[in-house]
Amino acid sequence: MDYAATREQALARIAQAQDLGALESLRVEFLGKQGSISGLLKTLGGMSAEDRLVVGPQIQALREAVSDALTARKAALEGAALEAQLASETLDLTLPAPEAPRGTVHPVSQVMDELAEIFADLGFAVATGPEIEDDWHNFTALNIPESHPARAMHDTFYFPDQMAADGTRMLLRTHTSPVQIRAMLQQGAPIRIIAPGRVYRSDSDATHTPMFHQVEGLVIDKGIHLGHLKWTLETFLKAFFEREDIVLRLRPSYFPFTEPSVEVDVGFALVNGKRVLGGSGDAPGHGWMELLGSGMVGRKVIEAGGLDPDEWQGFAFGVGVDRLAMLKYGMDDLRAFFDGDVRWLQHYGFSPLDVPTLSAGVGVRP
Ligand code: PHE
Repeated sequence: MDYAATREQALARIAQAQDLGALESLRVEFLGKQGSISGLLKTLGGMSAEDRLVVGPQIQALREAVSDALTARKAALEGAALEAQLASETLDLTLPAPEAPRGTVHPVSQVMDELAEIFADLGFAVATGPEIEDDWHNFTALNIPESHPARAMHDTFYFPDQMAADGTRMLLRTHTSPVQIRAMLQQGAPIRIIAPGRVYRSDSDATHTPMFHQVEGLVIDKGIHLGHLKWTLETFLKAFFEREDIVLRLRPSYFPFTEPSVEVDVGFALVNGKRVLGGSGDAPGHGWMELLGSGMVGRKVIEAGGLDPDEWQGFAFGVGVDRLAMLKYGMDDLRAFFDGDVRWLQHYGFSPLDVPTLSAGVGVRP
C-alpha cells in the first residue's frame, strides 16, 4: 500500500476544506470510528510481528500527519471566521463618552429587586414559571374547574390554536399562582418562595393594563397557620414601605385555591388629599385600602402539587407589583408604566448603581 500517496491525497483535501463543517466530515472520513485510517490501524492486528514492525510506524505517521493537518486547518478556518466577524463589527472608540449614564432602572424592576431582597432575608428563594401557560396549571390545578365563573373573571387571553398536551388551549397566565403548582411539583416540600413576573388579563383603564406584574408568595411546611401568614405579610410590608406603623386588616374573602381566603387591607391617612400608608384605617381621617389576596393553600391544590395535605400545610399570597410601586413611589397612572416615555423613566427610574439591599435600605431615592 502506498501510504505516501494516501497521505498526499488526504492533506490536499484537508487544505481545500472551505468551512468547519466540511473539515469535520473529513475528520470523520479519515479518523472516525469507521474512518479509512482507523481501518488501516485495525489491519495491524492481523499482521506478523515483522510486518507490523515495518508497517506500524508508517500508518502511525500517516495518522499523525492527517491529525496535525486537520488541527492546523481548523485553526486557520476559525481565525478567518474571527477576522471576518471583527471586520464586520466595528466599534468607534474615538466617539466621545456620554456625559452621564442615561439608562434608569424601571420602578417595576426596582420593586422586584426590593421584594427579592426583603424575602431573601426571610429565607425565601425566587421561583419563576412560564408566561405562556397551560389551562391545567393556570386554572384546573388551582381548583378552578372548566365551568368555574373565576375563569370568566380572569378575562383570559387564550391562544387560538396552540394546544396543551391534554387538549386544552394554551393561554397567557392570568396570575402568578400557577408557579405554586410548578414549585410543589418540582421541589416537593418544604417550600418558601416568591414568584415575581408578568401576568395578562384582557382589561384596560387607568388602573388596569392588559399586562401587569404580580408577585406570588408560597410557604409549604408542617403546622403552618394564618398567624404565619399575617406575620410574614406585616414584616414584608413594614420592610417594603420602610415604616413601622403599617397596620393590616384581614378580611374574609374567596379564592378557589385558598381556604380560608383572606383579603388584606392596609391602613392609610389622608395627608393633603393624598393617601399615605401607616396607622389604623379606623382612626379619624384614616381609611383602609385593599392591597392583596391570600389564604391557606387549599387541600386540592396541595394534592395537585403532588403533596399530602394531611402532612403539609401552607399559605399563599398574590400582590400587584405595579400597584406596590405606585403606592411607594407616588405614580397615579398605571398606563404610563408601559409607555416607554423617556421623561417618565428619567423621573421615576432608579440609578443602576443604587441596588436595593437590606443594610443600605430598600428604595432610597437616587
Ligand atoms: N392569584 C390571585 C389573583 O390574582 C391572588 C392570590 C394569590 C390569592 C395567592 C390568594 C393566594 O387575584
